[in-house]
Amino acid sequence: MKLRIVSVVGARPNFMKLAPVDRELAKRGDVEHVIVHTGQHYDPEMSAAFFEELWIPAPDYHLGVGSGSHASQTAAIMQRLEPVLTRTRPDVVLVYGDVNSTLAAALVAAKLGLRVGHVEAGLRSGDWTMPEEINRVVTDRLSALLFLPSREAGRNLLAEGVPGDRMHFVGNVMIDSLCWALSRVVERNAAAQRGLSDRGYVVVTLHRPSNVDDPATLGTLLDALHCLSRDLPVVFPVHPRAKQRLRDAGLTPGRNGGDLRLIEPVGYLEMLSLVASAALVVTDSGGLQEETTFLGVPCLTVRPNTERPITCIHGTNRLVPPHRDALLEAAGRAMERRPPVRPMIERWDGRAAERIARVLCEDECFDVEAVDQVSDMAPELPELEDRAPGQMRRAGMFATKEVLT
Ligand code: UD1
Repeated sequence: MKLRIVSVVGARPNFMKLAPVDRELAKRGDVEHVIVHTGQHYDPEMSAAFFEELWIPAPDYHLGVGSGSHASQTAAIMQRLEPVLTRTRPDVVLVYGDVNSTLAAALVAAKLGLRVGHVEAGLRSGDWTMPEEINRVVTDRLSALLFLPSREAGRNLLAEGVPGDRMHFVGNVMIDSLCWALSRVVERNAAAQRGLSDRGYVVVTLHRPSNVDDPATLGTLLDALHCLSRDLPVVFPVHPRAKQRLRDAGLTPGRNGGDLRLIEPVGYLEMLSLVASAALVVTDSGGLQEETTFLGVPCLTVRPNTERPITCIHGTNRLVPPHRDALLEAAGRAMERRPPVRPMIERWDGRAAERIARVLCEDECFDVEAVDQVSDMAPELPELEDRAPGQMRRAGMFATKEVLT
Protein backbone atom coordinates (compact mmCIF):
# COMPACT_ATOMS: atom_id res chain seq x y z
CA MET A 1 0.00 0.00 0.00
CA LYS A 2 1.18 3.49 -0.80
CA LEU A 3 2.22 5.86 1.94
CA ARG A 4 -0.22 8.77 1.80
CA ILE A 5 1.26 12.16 2.72
CA VAL A 6 -0.75 15.37 2.77
CA SER A 7 1.14 18.68 2.63
CA VAL A 8 -0.73 21.77 3.78
CA VAL A 9 0.50 25.18 2.59
CA GLY A 10 -1.09 28.60 2.33
CA ALA A 11 1.26 31.58 2.40
CA ARG A 12 4.11 32.72 0.15
CA PRO A 13 7.02 31.46 2.28
CA ASN A 14 5.45 27.98 2.44
CA PHE A 15 5.69 27.39 -1.28
CA MET A 16 9.49 27.33 -1.63
CA LYS A 17 9.62 24.87 1.28
CA LEU A 18 7.01 22.58 -0.27
CA ALA A 19 8.59 22.50 -3.75
CA PRO A 20 11.70 20.39 -3.00
CA VAL A 21 9.74 18.03 -0.73
CA ASP A 22 7.15 17.48 -3.45
CA ARG A 23 9.88 16.79 -6.03
CA GLU A 24 11.51 14.20 -3.76
CA LEU A 25 8.23 12.47 -2.93
CA ALA A 26 7.26 12.43 -6.61
CA LYS A 27 10.37 10.33 -7.35
CA ARG A 28 9.03 7.52 -5.17
CA GLY A 29 6.53 5.08 -6.58
CA ASP A 30 5.37 4.08 -3.10
CA VAL A 31 4.09 7.54 -2.04
CA GLU A 32 0.89 9.40 -2.79
CA HIS A 33 1.48 13.10 -2.14
CA VAL A 34 -1.63 15.24 -1.78
CA ILE A 35 -1.27 19.04 -1.72
CA VAL A 36 -3.76 21.27 0.11
CA HIS A 37 -3.63 25.06 -0.40
CA THR A 38 -5.49 26.92 2.34
CA GLY A 39 -5.81 30.13 0.30
CA GLN A 40 -4.24 32.31 3.02
CA HIS A 41 -2.41 34.04 0.17
CA TYR A 42 -4.40 34.35 -3.03
CA ASP A 43 -3.10 37.20 -5.23
CA PRO A 44 -1.52 35.63 -8.33
CA GLU A 45 1.88 37.18 -7.54
CA MET A 46 1.73 35.90 -3.93
CA SER A 47 0.66 32.36 -4.81
CA ALA A 48 0.09 31.06 -8.37
CA ALA A 49 3.36 32.59 -9.63
CA PHE A 50 5.28 30.54 -7.06
CA PHE A 51 3.56 27.28 -7.99
CA GLU A 52 4.44 27.93 -11.62
CA GLU A 53 8.07 28.96 -11.12
CA LEU A 54 8.79 26.21 -8.62
CA TRP A 55 7.07 23.55 -10.74
CA ILE A 56 4.66 22.64 -7.96
CA PRO A 57 1.62 20.76 -9.30
CA ALA A 58 -1.77 22.43 -8.87
CA PRO A 59 -3.14 21.75 -5.37
CA ASP A 60 -5.44 18.75 -5.01
CA TYR A 61 -7.62 20.81 -2.65
CA HIS A 62 -7.98 24.59 -2.41
CA LEU A 63 -9.72 25.80 0.75
CA GLY A 64 -10.06 29.44 -0.38
CA VAL A 65 -9.99 30.96 3.11
CA GLY A 66 -8.52 34.37 2.17
CA SER A 67 -7.59 37.11 4.64
CA GLY A 68 -8.97 37.86 8.08
CA SER A 69 -8.01 38.32 11.70
CA HIS A 70 -5.73 35.65 13.16
CA ALA A 71 -8.61 33.89 14.88
CA SER A 72 -10.99 33.98 11.94
CA GLN A 73 -8.34 32.91 9.44
CA THR A 74 -7.07 30.07 11.66
CA ALA A 75 -10.62 28.93 12.40
CA ALA A 76 -11.65 28.99 8.73
CA ILE A 77 -8.64 26.87 7.78
CA MET A 78 -9.44 24.39 10.55
CA GLN A 79 -13.09 24.07 9.59
CA ARG A 80 -12.35 23.57 5.92
CA LEU A 81 -9.37 21.26 6.38
CA GLU A 82 -10.99 18.84 8.80
CA PRO A 83 -13.28 17.16 6.22
CA VAL A 84 -10.37 16.87 3.76
CA LEU A 85 -8.17 15.07 6.30
CA THR A 86 -11.08 12.94 7.51
CA ARG A 87 -11.68 11.82 3.93
CA THR A 88 -8.05 11.28 2.91
CA ARG A 89 -6.82 9.74 6.24
CA PRO A 90 -3.14 10.34 5.46
CA ASP A 91 -0.27 8.55 7.19
CA VAL A 92 1.47 11.88 7.74
CA VAL A 93 0.42 15.54 7.46
CA LEU A 94 3.32 17.83 6.59
CA VAL A 95 3.20 21.49 7.61
CA TYR A 96 5.79 24.12 6.76
CA GLY A 97 7.29 27.13 8.52
CA ASP A 98 5.36 29.35 10.91
CA VAL A 99 2.34 30.94 9.28
CA ASN A 100 -1.30 30.66 10.39
CA SER A 101 -1.90 27.85 7.89
CA THR A 102 0.90 25.86 9.57
CA LEU A 103 -0.63 26.10 13.02
CA ALA A 104 -4.21 25.52 11.87
CA ALA A 105 -3.28 22.38 9.93
CA ALA A 106 -1.19 20.97 12.79
CA LEU A 107 -4.10 21.44 15.21
CA VAL A 108 -6.62 19.73 12.95
CA ALA A 109 -4.31 16.81 12.15
CA ALA A 110 -3.20 16.25 15.76
CA LYS A 111 -6.81 16.24 16.98
CA LEU A 112 -7.73 13.68 14.33
CA GLY A 113 -4.94 11.50 15.69
CA LEU A 114 -2.80 11.91 12.56
CA ARG A 115 1.00 12.15 12.64
CA VAL A 116 2.20 15.68 12.00
CA GLY A 117 5.58 16.43 10.44
CA HIS A 118 6.87 19.99 10.83
CA VAL A 119 9.31 21.16 8.17
CA GLU A 120 11.51 23.93 9.64
CA ALA A 121 10.95 22.94 13.26
CA GLY A 122 12.70 24.30 16.34
CA LEU A 123 13.32 27.91 15.30
CA ARG A 124 12.78 30.32 18.19
CA SER A 125 13.01 34.09 18.49
CA GLY A 126 11.78 34.11 22.09
CA ASP A 127 9.54 37.01 21.03
CA TRP A 128 5.94 36.21 21.94
CA THR A 129 4.66 39.44 20.39
CA MET A 130 5.19 37.82 16.98
CA PRO A 131 2.32 35.59 15.81
CA GLU A 132 4.89 33.40 14.08
CA GLU A 133 6.56 32.51 17.40
CA ILE A 134 3.25 31.28 18.80
CA ASN A 135 2.68 29.30 15.61
CA ARG A 136 6.15 27.72 15.81
CA VAL A 137 5.98 26.68 19.44
CA VAL A 138 2.48 25.20 19.25
CA THR A 139 3.14 23.44 15.95
CA ASP A 140 6.31 21.84 17.33
CA ARG A 141 4.44 20.60 20.40
CA LEU A 142 1.88 18.92 18.14
CA SER A 143 4.39 17.31 15.78
CA ALA A 144 5.61 13.74 15.90
CA LEU A 145 8.30 14.44 13.30
CA LEU A 146 10.42 17.57 13.68
CA PHE A 147 12.56 18.38 10.65
CA LEU A 148 15.33 20.72 11.79
CA PRO A 149 17.13 23.20 9.54
CA SER A 150 20.04 23.57 12.00
CA ARG A 151 21.53 21.95 15.09
CA GLU A 152 20.60 24.95 17.21
CA ALA A 153 16.93 24.29 16.38
CA GLY A 154 17.40 20.91 18.06
CA ARG A 155 18.95 22.57 21.09
CA ASN A 156 15.92 24.86 21.37
CA LEU A 157 13.58 21.89 21.35
CA LEU A 158 15.64 19.88 23.83
CA ALA A 159 15.55 22.88 26.18
CA GLU A 160 11.75 22.74 25.99
CA GLY A 161 11.77 19.06 26.93
CA VAL A 162 10.94 17.69 23.49
CA PRO A 163 12.22 14.09 23.15
CA GLY A 164 15.25 13.83 20.86
CA ASP A 165 13.81 10.85 18.96
CA ARG A 166 11.21 13.10 17.33
CA MET A 167 13.92 15.28 15.77
CA HIS A 168 15.70 14.88 12.46
CA PHE A 169 18.46 17.27 11.51
CA VAL A 170 17.77 17.34 7.78
CA GLY A 171 18.98 20.83 6.79
CA ASN A 172 17.30 23.79 5.19
CA VAL A 173 14.66 23.22 2.51
CA MET A 174 14.70 26.91 1.49
CA ILE A 175 18.27 26.37 0.38
CA ASP A 176 17.17 23.28 -1.59
CA SER A 177 14.87 25.53 -3.62
CA LEU A 178 17.55 28.14 -4.03
CA CYS A 179 20.10 25.58 -5.31
CA TRP A 180 17.50 24.12 -7.67
CA ALA A 181 16.66 27.55 -9.10
CA LEU A 182 20.13 29.06 -9.17
CA SER A 183 21.07 28.61 -12.80
CA ARG A 184 17.76 30.17 -13.90
CA VAL A 185 18.23 32.94 -11.31
CA VAL A 186 21.61 33.83 -12.77
CA GLU A 187 20.30 33.68 -16.36
CA ARG A 188 17.42 35.94 -15.47
CA ASN A 189 19.69 38.90 -14.69
CA ALA A 190 16.84 40.90 -13.19
CA ALA A 191 19.14 43.77 -12.23
CA ALA A 192 20.17 44.52 -15.81
CA GLN A 193 16.54 44.31 -16.92
CA ARG A 194 15.73 47.07 -14.45
CA GLY A 195 18.74 49.15 -15.50
CA LEU A 196 20.69 48.38 -12.30
CA SER A 197 24.38 47.52 -12.13
CA ASP A 198 25.79 44.46 -10.41
CA ARG A 199 26.23 45.16 -6.68
CA GLY A 200 25.13 48.74 -7.31
CA TYR A 201 21.71 48.77 -5.61
CA VAL A 202 19.80 47.83 -2.48
CA VAL A 203 16.80 45.45 -2.26
CA VAL A 204 14.20 46.05 0.45
CA THR A 205 11.28 43.96 1.76
CA LEU A 206 9.30 45.04 4.83
CA HIS A 207 5.94 43.64 5.83
CA ARG A 208 5.97 42.67 9.54
CA PRO A 209 3.29 44.34 11.66
CA SER A 210 6.05 45.76 13.92
CA ASN A 211 7.49 47.70 10.97
CA VAL A 212 4.49 48.62 8.87
CA ASP A 213 1.46 48.86 11.16
CA ASP A 214 2.58 51.96 13.09
CA PRO A 215 2.56 54.99 10.73
CA ALA A 216 5.42 56.69 12.64
CA THR A 217 7.71 53.63 12.31
CA LEU A 218 6.76 53.15 8.69
CA GLY A 219 7.44 56.84 8.00
CA THR A 220 10.87 56.60 9.66
CA LEU A 221 11.78 53.55 7.61
CA LEU A 222 10.65 55.21 4.39
CA ASP A 223 12.74 58.24 5.30
CA ALA A 224 15.79 56.03 5.89
CA LEU A 225 15.26 54.32 2.53
CA HIS A 226 15.04 57.74 0.85
CA CYS A 227 18.38 58.69 2.35
CA LEU A 228 19.92 55.39 1.31
CA SER A 229 18.61 55.88 -2.23
CA ARG A 230 20.66 59.05 -2.65
CA ASP A 231 23.77 56.83 -2.72
CA LEU A 232 22.41 53.73 -4.43
CA PRO A 233 19.10 52.89 -6.12
CA VAL A 234 16.73 51.15 -3.70
CA VAL A 235 14.24 48.59 -5.08
CA PHE A 236 11.33 47.79 -2.76
CA PRO A 237 8.79 45.18 -3.93
CA VAL A 238 5.86 46.09 -1.68
CA HIS A 239 3.90 43.32 0.09
CA PRO A 240 0.09 43.87 -0.01
CA ARG A 241 0.02 44.47 3.74
CA ALA A 242 2.73 47.16 3.52
CA LYS A 243 1.02 48.69 0.49
CA GLN A 244 -2.22 49.02 2.42
CA ARG A 245 -0.43 50.59 5.40
CA LEU A 246 1.46 53.06 3.19
CA ARG A 247 -1.85 54.08 1.63
CA ASP A 248 -3.58 54.38 5.02
CA ALA A 249 -0.75 56.56 6.37
CA GLY A 250 -0.70 58.71 3.20
CA LEU A 251 3.00 57.92 2.71
CA THR A 252 4.44 58.10 -0.79
CA PRO A 253 8.05 58.12 -1.94
CA GLY A 254 8.81 61.79 -2.57
CA ARG A 255 11.14 63.16 -5.22
CA ASN A 256 14.10 64.22 -3.19
CA GLY A 257 16.97 63.46 -5.52
CA GLY A 258 17.11 59.80 -4.56
CA ASP A 259 16.12 56.69 -6.51
CA LEU A 260 13.62 54.79 -4.34
CA ARG A 261 11.50 52.44 -6.44
CA LEU A 262 8.34 50.98 -4.91
CA ILE A 263 7.31 48.12 -7.19
CA GLU A 264 4.70 45.34 -7.17
CA PRO A 265 5.67 42.05 -5.44
CA VAL A 266 7.98 40.03 -7.69
CA GLY A 267 8.11 36.26 -8.24
CA TYR A 268 10.57 33.83 -6.69
CA LEU A 269 13.14 33.82 -9.52
CA GLU A 270 13.13 37.58 -10.04
CA MET A 271 13.47 38.22 -6.32
CA LEU A 272 16.41 35.86 -5.96
CA SER A 273 18.02 37.29 -9.06
CA LEU A 274 17.71 40.82 -7.65
CA VAL A 275 19.03 39.69 -4.27
CA ALA A 276 21.97 37.71 -5.67
CA SER A 277 23.43 40.81 -7.37
CA ALA A 278 22.51 43.38 -4.71
CA ALA A 279 25.00 45.40 -2.68
CA LEU A 280 22.74 45.06 0.34
CA VAL A 281 19.36 43.65 1.37
CA VAL A 282 17.19 45.35 4.01
CA THR A 283 14.39 43.09 5.19
CA ASP A 284 12.20 41.70 7.95
CA SER A 285 11.58 38.40 6.15
CA GLY A 286 12.76 35.10 7.62
CA GLY A 287 13.65 33.47 4.31
CA LEU A 288 15.74 36.35 3.03
CA GLN A 289 17.97 36.20 6.11
CA GLU A 290 18.86 32.66 5.04
CA GLU A 291 19.05 33.28 1.30
CA THR A 292 21.38 36.27 1.70
CA THR A 293 23.61 34.27 4.03
CA PHE A 294 23.82 31.45 1.51
CA LEU A 295 24.57 33.89 -1.32
CA GLY A 296 27.05 35.95 0.73
CA VAL A 297 25.04 39.16 0.28
CA PRO A 298 25.08 41.60 3.24
CA CYS A 299 21.69 41.74 4.96
CA LEU A 300 20.16 44.05 7.55
CA THR A 301 17.12 42.66 9.35
CA VAL A 302 14.90 45.35 10.82
CA ARG A 303 13.87 43.48 13.93
CA PRO A 304 14.94 43.32 17.59
CA ASN A 305 15.50 39.55 17.39
CA THR A 306 15.60 36.66 14.98
CA GLU A 307 14.62 33.00 15.09
CA ARG A 308 17.54 32.44 12.71
CA PRO A 309 20.57 33.56 14.77
CA ILE A 310 22.81 31.27 12.71
CA THR A 311 22.55 33.87 9.92
CA CYS A 312 24.07 36.48 12.27
CA ILE A 313 26.69 34.21 13.87
CA HIS A 314 27.97 32.52 10.72
CA GLY A 315 26.28 34.50 7.97
CA THR A 316 25.88 37.98 6.58
CA ASN A 317 22.88 39.07 8.64
CA ARG A 318 22.79 41.90 11.19
CA LEU A 319 19.83 43.12 13.24
CA VAL A 320 19.00 46.83 13.20
CA PRO A 321 16.34 48.90 14.95
CA PRO A 322 13.83 50.83 12.84
CA HIS A 323 15.69 54.12 13.31
CA ARG A 324 17.00 56.20 10.45
CA ASP A 325 20.55 56.87 11.63
CA ALA A 326 21.08 53.35 12.97
CA LEU A 327 19.93 51.90 9.69
CA LEU A 328 22.09 54.19 7.55
CA GLU A 329 25.16 53.55 9.67
CA ALA A 330 24.61 49.79 9.63
CA ALA A 331 24.08 49.89 5.85
CA GLY A 332 27.45 51.57 5.31
CA ARG A 333 29.21 49.10 7.59
CA ALA A 334 27.53 46.04 6.08
CA MET A 335 28.53 47.00 2.54
CA GLU A 336 32.13 47.69 3.59
CA ARG A 337 32.38 44.29 5.26
CA ARG A 338 30.97 42.18 2.46
CA PRO A 339 32.44 38.69 2.99
CA PRO A 340 35.01 37.60 0.42
CA VAL A 341 33.61 34.06 0.47
CA ARG A 342 30.13 32.63 0.81
CA PRO A 343 29.43 31.37 4.32
CA MET A 344 29.00 27.60 4.57
CA ILE A 345 26.40 26.29 6.97
CA GLU A 346 26.05 22.66 7.92
CA ARG A 347 23.43 20.83 5.82
CA TRP A 348 22.43 23.90 3.89
CA ASP A 349 23.46 21.83 0.92
CA GLY A 350 20.42 21.38 -1.31
CA ARG A 351 19.62 17.92 0.09
CA ALA A 352 17.27 18.60 3.02
CA ALA A 353 14.16 17.38 1.19
CA GLU A 354 15.93 14.18 0.18
CA ARG A 355 16.62 13.53 3.89
CA ILE A 356 12.98 14.30 4.77
CA ALA A 357 11.83 11.74 2.19
CA ARG A 358 14.26 9.18 3.63
CA VAL A 359 12.81 9.72 7.11
CA LEU A 360 9.24 9.46 5.84
CA CYS A 361 9.68 6.52 3.49
CA GLU A 362 12.60 4.54 4.91
CA ASP A 363 12.38 5.34 8.62
CA GLU A 364 15.91 6.67 8.47
CA CYS A 365 17.14 8.82 11.39
CA PHE A 366 19.14 12.03 11.24
CA ASP A 367 20.14 12.33 14.86
CA VAL A 368 20.74 15.93 15.89
CA GLU A 369 23.64 14.93 18.13
CA ALA A 370 25.45 12.82 15.52
CA VAL A 371 28.52 14.38 13.94
CA ASP A 372 29.13 13.55 10.31
CA GLN A 373 32.28 11.60 9.44
CA VAL A 374 32.79 13.80 6.43
CA SER A 375 31.75 17.37 7.09
CA ASP A 376 28.91 18.57 4.94
CA MET A 377 29.94 20.87 2.18
CA ALA A 378 28.21 23.48 0.14
CA PRO A 379 27.09 22.19 -3.25
CA GLU A 380 29.02 23.11 -6.39
CA LEU A 381 27.68 26.44 -7.61
CA PRO A 382 29.95 27.46 -10.47
CA GLU A 383 27.90 30.57 -11.20
CA LEU A 384 28.86 32.05 -7.86
CA GLU A 385 32.49 31.07 -7.69
CA ASP A 386 33.53 34.46 -9.04
CA ARG A 387 32.99 35.78 -5.53
CA ALA A 388 36.19 34.08 -4.37
CA PRO A 389 37.60 31.63 -6.90
CA GLY A 390 39.12 28.60 -5.26
CA GLN A 391 38.63 29.86 -1.74
CA MET A 392 35.09 28.79 -1.01
CA ARG A 393 35.76 25.32 0.26
CA ARG A 394 38.95 26.08 2.14
CA ALA A 395 37.81 29.16 3.97
CA GLY A 396 34.34 28.05 5.01
CA MET A 397 32.34 29.80 7.65
CA PHE A 398 35.24 30.76 9.87
CA ALA A 399 36.80 33.15 7.39
CA THR A 400 33.44 34.83 7.02
CA LYS A 401 32.98 35.14 10.73
CA GLU A 402 36.32 36.87 11.10
CA VAL A 403 35.52 39.32 8.37
CA LEU A 404 32.13 40.18 9.74
CA THR A 405 32.65 40.50 13.46
C1 UD1 B 1 1.91 36.10 6.44
C2 UD1 B 1 2.56 35.38 7.62
C3 UD1 B 1 3.98 35.88 7.79
C4 UD1 B 1 4.77 35.77 6.49
C5 UD1 B 1 4.01 36.49 5.39
C6 UD1 B 1 4.72 36.33 4.06
C7 UD1 B 1 1.03 34.75 9.43
C8 UD1 B 1 0.63 35.04 10.82
N1 UD1 B 1 1.86 35.65 8.85
O1 UD1 B 1 1.85 37.49 6.78
O2 UD1 B 1 4.63 35.08 8.76
O3 UD1 B 1 6.03 36.35 6.66
O4 UD1 B 1 2.70 35.92 5.28
O5 UD1 B 1 4.10 37.05 3.06
O6 UD1 B 1 0.63 33.75 8.90
N2 UD1 B 1 -3.13 40.20 1.30
C9 UD1 B 1 -3.42 40.45 -0.02
N3 UD1 B 1 -3.24 39.42 -0.91
C10 UD1 B 1 -2.79 38.21 -0.55
C11 UD1 B 1 -2.51 37.98 0.80
C12 UD1 B 1 -2.68 38.99 1.72
O7 UD1 B 1 -3.82 41.54 -0.39
O8 UD1 B 1 -2.63 37.32 -1.42
C13 UD1 B 1 -3.28 41.32 2.28
C14 UD1 B 1 -4.61 41.31 3.00
O9 UD1 B 1 -5.01 42.62 3.19
C15 UD1 B 1 -4.28 40.70 4.33
C16 UD1 B 1 -2.85 41.18 4.55
O10 UD1 B 1 -2.26 41.21 3.26
O11 UD1 B 1 -5.13 41.08 5.35
C17 UD1 B 1 -2.05 40.26 5.45
O12 UD1 B 1 -2.08 38.92 4.96
P1 UD1 B 1 -1.88 37.67 5.97
O13 UD1 B 1 -1.76 36.40 5.23
O14 UD1 B 1 -2.90 37.75 7.04
O15 UD1 B 1 -0.52 38.01 6.66
P2 UD1 B 1 0.87 38.48 6.03
O16 UD1 B 1 1.17 39.84 6.51
O17 UD1 B 1 0.90 38.22 4.55
